[in-house]
Amino acid sequence: MNHNKNLIVTCALVYANSDLHLGHILEQVQADIWVRFQKMQGNTCHFICADDTHGTPIMLKAEQLNITPEQLIAQVHDRHVSDIKAFDINFDHYYTTNSPECQELVYDVYNKLKQNNKITTRKIHQLFDTEKQMFLPDRYVKGTCPKCKTPDQYGDNCESCGATYTPSDLIEPYSVISGVKPVLRESEHYFFKLGECEDFLKNWLNADNRLQQEAVNKMQEWLNGGLQDWDISRDKPYFGFLIPETTNKYFYVWLDAPVGYMGTLLNYCKTHNLDFNQLWNNENTDIYHFFGKDILYFHALFWPAILNYSGYKAPTKLFVHGFLTLNGQKMSKSRGTFINARNLIDSGISTNLFRYYIASKLTNKVEDVDFTLDDFVAKVNSELVGKYINIAARSSSFLNKIFDNNLASDMTDQTLLTHISNEADSIAWYYQDREYAKALRLIMSLVDEVNTYVDNVKPWLLAKNIEQHSELHQVCTVLINAFRYLSIYLKPVTPSLASDIEKFLNIKPLQWNDINTTLLAHKINPYTHLITRIDTTMTDNLMNLAKEDISKQNISANTITNNTDNVNKVEYEPIAETINIDDFSKLDLRIAKIIDAKAVEGADKLIQLTLDIGNETRNVFAGIKAAYNPESLIGKHTVMVANLAPRKMKFRISEGMVVAGGFEDKKSGLYILEPHDGAKPGMRVR
Ligand code: MSP
Ligand code: ZN
Repeated sequence: MNHNKNLIVTCALVYANSDLHLGHILEQVQADIWVRFQKMQGNTCHFICADDTHGTPIMLKAEQLNITPEQLIAQVHDRHVSDIKAFDINFDHYYTTNSPECQELVYDVYNKLKQNNKITTRKIHQLFDTEKQMFLPDRYVKGTCPKCKTPDQYGDNCESCGATYTPSDLIEPYSVISGVKPVLRESEHYFFKLGECEDFLKNWLNADNRLQQEAVNKMQEWLNGGLQDWDISRDKPYFGFLIPETTNKYFYVWLDAPVGYMGTLLNYCKTHNLDFNQLWNNENTDIYHFFGKDILYFHALFWPAILNYSGYKAPTKLFVHGFLTLNGQKMSKSRGTFINARNLIDSGISTNLFRYYIASKLTNKVEDVDFTLDDFVAKVNSELVGKYINIAARSSSFLNKIFDNNLASDMTDQTLLTHISNEADSIAWYYQDREYAKALRLIMSLVDEVNTYVDNVKPWLLAKNIEQHSELHQVCTVLINAFRYLSIYLKPVTPSLASDIEKFLNIKPLQWNDINTTLLAHKINPYTHLITRIDTTMTDNLMNLAKEDISKQNISANTITNNTDNVNKVEYEPIAETINIDDFSKLDLRIAKIIDAKAVEGADKLIQLTLDIGNETRNVFAGIKAAYNPESLIGKHTVMVANLAPRKMKFRISEGMVVAGGFEDKKSGLYILEPHDGAKPGMRVR
């Protein structure tokens, strides 16, 4: 298929401010299956990904957590890498855009664009937060929709009437960061002259089926609408790469992110004795990008144009996919429909089963893929466990009991096996064409045929009669060989399972052309458990873990900063001076139920709590907003100091305090206390 070619394959670089969710996994599984298939065919393939680490949200998130952006992205990187591994996503390199290689290439690309007269500067007006002293990206301005007058709409579009506008059109705009009313301010910005790239883009688009039809249509729309120059700079403060010859302008994250594909490959080349420029620009190198439909604009317009006008080869093809939905709903934390990758890992469900399910629904169209728990469980339990693995279980028990795990030295009737191996090219073509649902349907129809064969020859009857044992040996040998063929076909989708099967069959890692050979006069290992069927404990775990994560404020102090210990060592506070029991009993600690919790307008750090302590309710301000989403606290029990003198705050009187654990530097988050089940409001803690 792609012989004598080098393939560079990428997944979209994941933002370094939150954990991977099942939608990210869908994309990575889609690409990983394709790459594994290419490698099984003997093709040379470099599979690249990284964290996308720059930009305002990451800068602000780090600030909110009281850590540096470098600390934040280091923690998130570790979490991403571990999730990726658990899902068997086999990137050849998973790197970061905050790297010297990425910076080097960003400067290289920028200088070449400048030489080619594709960069210009222009003054623009933008909303500025005078308190925070920063220009506000559209998403950080809210206000009343100029069209339908719905309050609290974002700066770029109205969720209520769908109108699009610029942030300065909003009525009564306010900064999401500080709450103040932003002012319009002028600033010089750098632009990439995308408007001059139209001819190139049209030619690029029209060659070689670069994109799926749905994506081509979208691009046609954009091209017909005329292309605007693209603003590639952002003002200080920003987390990113400084623009050369400036002291206060940074490259916009969407410029350095795709260059991160190259930066990652460059870093990989350095350690693998490869020449980056020679690899990227080689005519025998194909470049493929897998990514979701929401970021087509960046990959199909800016990226090919930037590559071309900086002297690099533009992508060969773009593989755009739809979104993962849950029960037909968009994944959304606020709507409670959201599953993190690690929720599935922690639930005990084998990640290979999820890969199988996703693959069984993927086509090469830009279509959404729906995840429904019941359907998932029914499908993988029946197809993978019930039908496929069962072939091995059924045949190996006879081999073990009667033939000392040895396969026969010949097979007189290979009809079934030939029938299975004849489908190799069709299945290969489906993989190549990213029609995984079709590939799996064909493979499962072969699995069904093998099971029908078992039902017809009835090995359990043959086993009863010693005169029929040589026939039984034949049958079992056919079945193990059939199982081996099916395992070749499924290996790109379920690699860990395949590796366990290779151990069981006592064979070297399966390659695609192993379909041309059979296993005879070979000793396999006794059958060991290969796969665990999904049960309701696991699905309950999954839903509970997902719910818990939703109730935490995205990836707040409670998850990310747990790992700060790895980044900088904790300095434990010395234990305080000794007190006696009378000193302690001066403290009146009470179990309290949080009956209400809300953010305090004008205060970044505070949550206002209404606490039920049995015979009264108390109003308490707690400095825990960085660690908790107020709604997630409502209904929980905690512990409060009930005899602390009331304190007049800027907003209202605080009638006590809640107690929380935290290190002195506060970088590892704050954790309020929660009593064991059964504790009642008003109980004294002694
Ligand atoms: N950082 C950018 C990409 C830069 S590429 C040079 C970004 N990051 S992301 O974390 O938001 O998304 C990463 C990938 O996941 C994107 O391809 C995006 O389309 C995909 N998905 C995000 N949510 C998804 C689903 N619910 N379903 C499937 N894919 C989804 O965009
Ligand atoms: Zn509106």
